[in-house]
Amino acid sequence: MSHVTSRTQVAIIGAGPAGLLLSHLLAARGIDSVVLETRSQEYVGARIRAGILEQSSVDLLTDVGLGDRLAREGDQHRGIYLQFPHERHHLDFMDLIGRSVYVYGQTEVQKDLVEARAAAGQQWVYEISDTALHDLDTDRPSVTYTDADGNPQRLEADAIAGCDGSFGPSRSAIPGGTTWERTYPYSWFGILADVAPSTDELIYAWHPNGFALHSMRSETVSRLYLQVEPGTDPDSWSDDRIWDELATRLGHGQDGWELNPGPITDKSVLPMRSYVHAPMSHGRLFLAGDAAHIVPPTGAKGLNLAIADVALLAPALAELVGKGDARLADAYSDTALRRVWRCTHFSWWMTTMLHHNGDPFDAQLQLSQLRWVTSSKAGATGLAENYAGMPFEI
Ligand code: APR
Ligand code: PHB
Repeated sequence: MSHVTSRTQVAIIGAGPAGLLLSHLLAARGIDSVVLETRSQEYVGARIRAGILEQSSVDLLTDVGLGDRLAREGDQHRGIYLQFPHERHHLDFMDLIGRSVYVYGQTEVQKDLVEARAAAGQQWVYEISDTALHDLDTDRPSVTYTDADGNPQRLEADAIAGCDGSFGPSRSAIPGGTTWERTYPYSWFGILADVAPSTDELIYAWHPNGFALHSMRSETVSRLYLQVEPGTDPDSWSDDRIWDELATRLGHGQDGWELNPGPITDKSVLPMRSYVHAPMSHGRLFLAGDAAHIVPPTGAKGLNLAIADVALLAPALAELVGKGDARLADAYSDTALRRVWRCTHFSWWMTTMLHHNGDPFDAQLQLSQLRWVTSSKAGATGLAENYAGMPFEI
């Protein structure tokens, strides 16, 4: 059965935050797009992911009309706490660099994007399969796929945006790319709990038993993480053991601070790896977000990097398909990769500083680095600059 052909200016593969935000930024520049997604809208919306937004991400979302609920329900944080045995230090980003971060779950960002795109009449196709990319070296590339009813479809466009995450087909459509990868010998055991956070801002803790993080989603929902062995079965830890280990690593009882346990509503184990693919474009195909790079969550960079990519890609594609001017599009990959490596380095640095790897020499180096970062203005400022976020173009 031959393909039914349709046409748009930009074919976007993937309806995660990168794909939907790109469609929104393109529409603001008068550029049409069709978003193709292999999962259902409900499935994509329900995925539990991270919850920290850089100042630059909040500024962009606000500028393009996606900041109302964020302003109402998001929580502005001045900084973070760094914890190690018998010591807890607050790094105040506002004092150090005049920038802050916001706690607002990726699920909420996704919800706002879907609502805004639906209201704008965005063309999107969910539950597709057999996605394949064609003619990337021409000015009329296309994507073929099978729709939810089993019909073969071809979407022709002036450009394709590969926003299909780390397991999508777009990256492998780039011939002869280079990849860099680092996997870490530990994972994160993440829980959601219906209990008020026991801290006003995030606590990142180094402990000989392993790393721990106290984050939150709202005044009544806490999000916490524990360093565990890769491949740990989430059901192999009892709730009591989880809370006991969190209390130990986060310093329960230190200076009167207490961790309040509560009902755990979700458990998951996340692998930890750093991954970068270059180039991030080939012909009329442009990668953004997890399709091109993965960072471990310790630096809270995953979502913010996806937002930074599309903040660069949208004007580049608008110039290319709207005016036939390829200068920004030709520079996109190199420009985006500079920021990708900055965030990859910072995420690796936070990860290797805060996770115990069993090596006693490394443990002393980690403690020394933590003491420096928490006592030296220069050290604290370096962390603050990276955590609160660099400008989109560096
Ligand atoms: N065809 C269509 N869609 C696909 C295909 C395919 N063959 N393969 C994957 N997809 C979809 C996935 O189902 C997913 O919804 O692409 C989307 C990619 O979305 P994300 O994985 O959320 O990636 P991205 O939009 O780049 O957002 C990055 O998500 O994983 C977090 O930490 C990460 O916060 C970061 C953010
Ligand atoms: C989260 O809230 O889920 C979160 C926050 C900070 C991180 C990672 C995850 O570094």
